[in-house]
Formats: sequence, structure tokens, C-alpha cells
Amino acid sequence: MTDDIFSRIREDHDKHRTLARIIERTSGDSRGRNELFPKLADDVRAHARAEERVFYSELLAATQSRDLAGHSVKEHHEIEAIIEELLDKDYSSTGWLARFKTLTDKLRHHMLEEEKNIFPLAGRVLSEARKREMVIEFDAAKQTEARKVA
Ligand SMILES: [Fe+2]
Ligand SMILES: [Fe+2]
Repeated sequence: MTDDIFSRIREDHDKHRTLARIIERTSGDSRGRNELFPKLADDVRAHARAEERVFYSELLAATQSRDLAGHSVKEHHEIEAIIEELLDKDYSSTGWLARFKTLTDKLRHHMLEEEKNIFPLAGRVLSEARKREMVIEFDAAKQTEARKVA
């Protein structure tokens, strides 16, 4: 159900959790890893940038959510850096999966933090109307970003 921005973001998170779990089980030069990792990489990056443009921009502007939002955006940059590194690395190399696990640890931690800490805070900062309107803006921003990262 994507009736507000929280359920829309959560929908992406669940997709990312599922893809991460499947990729963790792949071996060296498997087709799964080659096909699924770029898919996860692109979707996570487009998701994070859409969050920044539509969701975090408003949370950064409000005093009570500024610090936590700033922390979250910083985590986006760390996550993006590991994604770039993994895209450049040979997928069948021995270190790839270990590094991928570092990424999924960070990503899971980040998504949980958004759901447990940011959402309740954003729930107080944003009006009911904004929570609903943001879904459309998020989808549009994500589509624009997806074209840039792909
Ligand atoms: Fe995020
Ligand atoms: Fe997120």
C-alpha cells in the first residue's frame, strides 16, 4: 500500500532487503550476481537520491529533524561509495562478497534507522497532506535519478 511517503519508502526497502538476501547467496561468477547487483545498485542509488530531493530536503529545513536527517544523508554517501567500489570490482574475486556484506550491513542498519527513528520524527514534522503528496514527487524524482545512474 503506497498511500503515504512512509509506506512508499518502506516498499523500496523491502525490495532492497529481498535482493540483498538473494545476492548474498550467489557464488563467484554466477549470472545471478552479475544481473542482480547492478539492479540493486541502481535502485538503491535512485531511491537515496529521491529521498534526499523530496523527503530529506524538508526534514533538513525543520529544526527538530535537522540533525538526524543530516546523519542519514551522510550514510547515503557512504553507501554510494561502497556501491561504486563494488561495481568496479571483479564480481568473481574473493573479496567481493565480503565487501558486499559490509554494504548490506550498512544498508540494513540505514533502512532500519529510517523506519524506526526518522519516520516517527517526520510524522510530526510533515502535514498529513504532504505525507501523501510526497509519494508522487518521490516517484517522479526516482525516475529522473534512475535515468542518471543506469
Ligand atoms: Fe535512505
Ligand atoms: Fe530509504
